[in-house]
Amino acid sequence: MKVTEVQRAFNAEEIRNDFPSLDQTVYGKKLIYFDNGATAQKPQAVIDSISHYYSKDNSNIHRGVHYLSQVATTQYENARKTIQTYINAAHSEEVLFTKGTTDGINLIAHSFGETLKEGDEITISAMEHHSNIVPWQMLCERKKCILRVIPINEKGELVLTSIDSYITEKTKLLAVTHISNSLGTINPIEFLTKKARSVGAKILIDGAQSIQHMRVDVQEMDCDFFVFSGHKVFGPTGIGVLYGKKKVLDSLPPYQGGGDMIAKVTFEKTTYNELPHKFEAGTPHIAGGICLGVAFKYLEKLDMDAIMKYEQSLANYAQEQLLKFEGVKIIGTADQKTSVVSFVVEGIHPFDLGTLLDKQGIAVRTGHHCTQPLMDFFEIPGTIRASFAFYNTKEEIDIFIKAMDRSINMLK
Ligand code: ALA
Repeated sequence: MKVTEVQRAFNAEEIRNDFPSLDQTVYGKKLIYFDNGATAQKPQAVIDSISHYYSKDNSNIHRGVHYLSQVATTQYENARKTIQTYINAAHSEEVLFTKGTTDGINLIAHSFGETLKEGDEITISAMEHHSNIVPWQMLCERKKCILRVIPINEKGELVLTSIDSYITEKTKLLAVTHISNSLGTINPIEFLTKKARSVGAKILIDGAQSIQHMRVDVQEMDCDFFVFSGHKVFGPTGIGVLYGKKKVLDSLPPYQGGGDMIAKVTFEKTTYNELPHKFEAGTPHIAGGICLGVAFKYLEKLDMDAIMKYEQSLANYAQEQLLKFEGVKIIGTADQKTSVVSFVVEGIHPFDLGTLLDKQGIAVRTGHHCTQPLMDFFEIPGTIRASFAFYNTKEEIDIFIKAMDRSINMLK
């Protein structure tokens, strides 16, 4: 479908009014924010909720008998329930608050990692973000485990023909990204999950780039763990979620020790609290959790299937327009992709182009996007990445393309 048709069905202009930061100029130019893969802008409701929390309800949770503590605790636990409903988790205690995706993956690498032994294998893919590579490498060093990497093809899709040699009886965990942050590739999660289940491996899905673009149902996906960051899903920074199946989380040892995660402490022995507290040591990011709940309340009202179609049409349109420039190569041309257009221009360094675009009010990300092995595969130092959200428009892409034209002429 053409972007104009989808745009009519999905009113991005109206939605933009909810996001005050979009309505500003930088260097005297209208801001065009195409760096949503790095972080998303916040709706007014989320901004207001942060101010409201610190103006009225600020208190520690799970600890006080006093009124404010109870208000804050109720709001924090209600946010957990909102997220549970949104991702269709079976139980609210399966939703653990973390600092973000990286923190969630590290939690599993430490806790689940404790259950591994020498020679066990962990399988990831060649398109992973550093946060879904390095924690496993560190675990493999600690436990003498083996890291296996599912290869990709030139289009930036997983090569599945030899999948049985990457997911084997030795595989204890499959940890893959749902959508690649650098390429926009949507991975075949259902297929991978079934493969991992058939050998008894656990499955972790990195949802940092998916939950803001598509409907997520953790029970339908049948994953053991699903991790994401609040700030990419229109909530605050410093808060994220690790969804884990109750049965699996119950069987794992705690990650960090401290207050709230205990049932009883003596100098001889400590027993641990039940879920979700077992994995939430210390005073959490209370405001973050509550405001992330508000972000999901906002998302609840939107049609994620329409959003996905709309964002795909934006990405397709941007891609078509970019390919009209001589020397432009799109990095990541998977059949199933969304929201991200990564590209290079022959003879121009991504940083130089990104800097000139910035001066024209356009925010893109340049560099390796925390996926150095992926850049090595494509034999490039980095890309220019335009990553879209539902509040972006075709008109913004037209301005971006004009700015590209000016920038390329200046740099060539
Ligand atoms: N992981 C974030 C990105 O892709 C920061 O930009």
